[in-house]
Amino acid sequence: MTAPTATALRPQWDALPTGLRAGLADLLGGIAVADVQTGGFTPGLAARLRLATGRHLFAKGIPSDHALAGKYRTEADTARALPATTPAPRLQWTGEIAEWVVLIFDDIEGRHPDLSPGSPDVPRVVAAVAGLAEVLTPSPLPQAPDATAELAAIVHGWAELADAPPLDLDPWECAHVNRLAEMESHWLRAAAGPTLLHGDINASNLLIDGTGGVHLIDWAQPACGAAWIDIVDLIPHLILAGHDPAAAECAVADVPAWNGTDPEMITSYAVAFAGYWARTCRQPAPPMVPYLRGYQRRAAGAALDWVRHRTGW
Ligand SMILES: Nc1ncnc2c1ncn2[C@@H]1O[C@H](COP(=O)(O)OP(=O)(O)O)[C@@H](O)[C@H]1O
Ligand SMILES: [Mg+2]
Repeated sequence: MTAPTATALRPQWDALPTGLRAGLADLLGGIAVADVQTGGFTPGLAARLRLATGRHLFAKGIPSDHALAGKYRTEADTARALPATTPAPRLQWTGEIAEWVVLIFDDIEGRHPDLSPGSPDVPRVVAAVAGLAEVLTPSPLPQAPDATAELAAIVHGWAELADAPPLDLDPWECAHVNRLAEMESHWLRAAAGPTLLHGDINASNLLIDGTGGVHLIDWAQPACGAAWIDIVDLIPHLILAGHDPAAAECAVADVPAWNGTDPEMITSYAVAFAGYWARTCRQPAPPMVPYLRGYQRRAAGAALDWVRHRTGW
């Protein structure tokens, strides 16, 4: 299994520190095959392993002093707290090996979903993401940060772009940037809630197995909040995969968390998400993460199509 396109520069197995490979081999009892995965954007290790015993596992890890190491520790805490009925691979082990934070999961033999119009994966993914709230309410992770604070710090962008407009804002963005900046925080009034949110729903964090079962991976950005947020996060990704905005909304139309949310809050969230991508795509690329900004630029375009659809501007 590979991601639709390689998006992460990850260490090849043979390039890992010897102590790490030896520690993993000691822990797991001999690794016959390590297949490095190229999805996602983190420059950390991600590898599907076949052990000498024939067992399959998935390993991810990053040096303990890396700026993203905290995210790996958060993912381990979240994965440990997920109820067994969560459609997510089980965490089998976590700890430090040779000064790397390491997480070992059950391996999912699968592929990333095709979120394009007409794909049978779309209703499966919508059902799986919509079903998360049932399993994850009330939140099983008491230390999960409150979505209102956690997401407020991430999902925004127009205020900064209005304060110092970059030269490459397009004419529509220039005409509306102040109104967008005013709208982009309204949704926070509807963000509080009792549900543990995945917080990073996108095709690279979803796997579909041979029976059509959907698995949510990469629980590194959890928050406790309102259930509509995870399902609404899917919409710009459906647009990015080729849906027009009306069709993307239609795909989630039967989900109660979508129907029960004030449409104004959803419009504001669409604005905020577009702002997040419009802001971050203009920042310099982090070291060893060459494809993130291009992806964010395309995602900003998809989210802006959604905003134009919802506002009629
Ligand atoms: N349990 C698993 N079984 C099989 N493949 C997996 C598993 N978890 C992740 N992957 C693959 O590895 C890639 C990176 O894993 P992910 O946990 O998303 O790491 P990152 O934090 O680097 O995005 C995923 O996009 C997926 O292709
Ligand atoms: Mg990922």
